[in-house]
Amino acid sequence: MTDVQTEIAPVTRPNGKEPTRELKGLVLSGGKGSRLRPLTATGAKQLVPVANKPVLFYALEQLVAAGIREIAIVTGDTGAQVEAAVGDGSAFGAEITYIQQTAPLGLAHGVMTAREFLGDSPFCMFLGDNFLKQGIAQHARRFMTGNAAGQILLKRVDDASAFGVAVLDDQGRVLRLVEKPKEPISDMAIVGVYFFGPEIHQITPTLKPSGRGELEITEAIQGLIDAGFVVESSVIGDEWVDTGKKDDMLEANRVVLAMIGRRVDGEVDALSQIVGEVIIEPGATVIESTIRGPAIIGAGTTLRNAYVGPFTAIGERCALTDCEIEHSIVLSDSAISGIGVRIADSLIGKEVVVERSAQRPQAVRLMLGDHAHVGLI
Ligand code: G1P
Repeated sequence: MTDVQTEIAPVTRPNGKEPTRELKGLVLSGGKGSRLRPLTATGAKQLVPVANKPVLFYALEQLVAAGIREIAIVTGDTGAQVEAAVGDGSAFGAEITYIQQTAPLGLAHGVMTAREFLGDSPFCMFLGDNFLKQGIAQHARRFMTGNAAGQILLKRVDDASAFGVAVLDDQGRVLRLVEKPKEPISDMAIVGVYFFGPEIHQITPTLKPSGRGELEITEAIQGLIDAGFVVESSVIGDEWVDTGKKDDMLEANRVVLAMIGRRVDGEVDALSQIVGEVIIEPGATVIESTIRGPAIIGAGTTLRNAYVGPFTAIGERCALTDCEIEHSIVLSDSAISGIGVRIADSLIGKEVVVERSAQRPQAVRLMLGDHAHVGLI
């Protein structure tokens, strides 16, 4: 990603009491992804691509850009896929350990699962489905030069009811945290990036499952505050997306595509028009088509008499023929052809076929996975 801060100095914590240690990374990449079904019926939600790159990869890159090398990824049922996609971490400049969580029992349970890996090191916990535009380097620096037991990132949002929220005092210290409040007590949503010292391990074993049956990290942070530890917060101006749903994926896609620049490595014929910031990967072929950026066309994809409009990411090895699409994400190996209406605001999975059929009687013929959503005109 282009604007991740590139400072790579190791971050240490010189707070007097503790020996100097490096910040570790803990990425939580389990969960069911129920709001992204049917895509997540077969795949990990953290591997759904944003501008043709799994959303999880942005988190890993941003941890590394903040000087963090030793990273554990806590996985669930989709662990094998996550491991296959990420590998040993060398592609990211990190050393990655995989830890299997026995069941999706909550974020604080994820911390407990990684107890041995974390040792007494301070760590940054990054939820693998959270996307931040500018990364975490400045927040890591603040945490490592202070002596708080916890530091959270907050973002002002219109409706905080889907998140954990924080109530602050006038110096920005966290007074109270509530997970998914029914009453609007604060517009400060808790971002899925947290910094903790080893003090958190005193609290997690004392937690009881919440109403949704999980050990909540929100309650663990409240436990730190109640035990008299300092928890700092930063209200971020950065763009943040919790990519749990289709429209959130499209939003993260918009944010990244808005800064991709222009690079044409594929083949474009003389009858095609490429307008604005467009990446065409090697091996892609564009024939009699118009692409109006920002957009990205994956390697090996062919466009023929197609229109690809702004904020669209087409994955690898797709075929788009006689169709129009914009503000959408298409995963790899899908084919779209002969569609008389423009496709917009859509998230299309792998190996999907969307085609016009001449078969009589004329009808819409669907073969959809569970929880699929179709919007016809
Ligand atoms: C979790 C946290 C919540 C936080 C959110 C950020 O929610 O429990 O406090 O605001 O991540 O993405 P969940 O995604 O588990 O519903």
